[in-house]
Amino acid sequence: MVVDGTLGAGGVTATLLEGVLPGGRVLAIDRDPAAVQRGRERFAGSARTVLVEHGDFADLAGILRHHGIDAVDAVTLDLGISSLQLDDPDRGFSFRYDGPLDMRMDPSAGGITAADIVNTWTSDELANVIATYGEERFARAVAAALVRRRSEKPLRTTTDLRECVERAIPRRYWPRRIHPATRTFQALRLEVNHELESLERGLQATITSLRPGGRLGVISFHSLEDTLVKNALHVAAQNCLCPPQQPLCTCAHRASLFLHTRKAIKADAVEIATNPRARSARLRVAEKLAVAP
Ligand SMILES: C[S@@+](CC[C@H](N)C(=O)[O-])C[C@H]1O[C@@H](n2cnc3c(N)ncnc32)[C@H](O)[C@@H]1O
Repeated sequence: MVVDGTLGAGGVTATLLEGVLPGGRVLAIDRDPAAVQRGRERFAGSARTVLVEHGDFADLAGILRHHGIDAVDAVTLDLGISSLQLDDPDRGFSFRYDGPLDMRMDPSAGGITAADIVNTWTSDELANVIATYGEERFARAVAAALVRRRSEKPLRTTTDLRECVERAIPRRYWPRRIHPATRTFQALRLEVNHELESLERGLQATITSLRPGGRLGVISFHSLEDTLVKNALHVAAQNCLCPPQQPLCTCAHRASLFLHTRKAIKADAVEIATNPRARSARLRVAEKLAVAP
């Protein structure tokens, strides 16, 4: 059994996994009901080998239990949002299209939208989330502009947000390679979907669920995700977490992973030419150790 923790709209990873595992089974998970619906249609002919499940990969342990699976041979996590989500104006993920300011990956779960955040959070809370999750140096100015704008009229659409950010950042400081609203949109999306919390829990659940020799592959798309993945895998690959000056180990932490990639793998020029969105992708691979040393 292998797990594709992020089925996505194309189901490409699940298809590849199915192809390399004749006789095996794939459990494909996505928190987005639209991706699940498309996945169920796509794999309707192989419903016995590809199980399509609606859920958050953070809840992998419960999902596996529900299917009576106690361990898996491989897990892939292709993080972030899909082109289907990004290019659908009604989902509100992109500043390129006008649409409602939503950004929820799983609208069926309720939860807050990006509009709720920009219209109700204090200026300090907004600045904090935009600085932390967007790594935006003008976070304070953007937050102040949002508060000013909503005092006249609530922000309802992606265009409202894009225009507000464009006005808040002086034109001479606009980044050259990305749109000035990119970082604010990323910050709100991460907050709305609790993406980094899910990733942290999902990685721990994955490491626990892998059988010895089983492999984990994670593709991240921005530095916050990649740093979190790198740190979690490095900790799991270490034999002791005691401070270096301590003469004897008292932590009892033992390595459960072997790292196949000390440095993340990037897409090459040929791949980027055919798929420009691969430009920011970083792949890390690790293997569950057979016996903890
Ligand atoms: C980059 S796309 C995956 C594309 C996929 N590999 C394919 O071949 O089409 C990311 C997908 O992960 C899903 N996702 C993101 N975070 C998730 C989470 N915590 N649990 C489950 N699915 C998640 C998103 O809804 C999105 O559909």
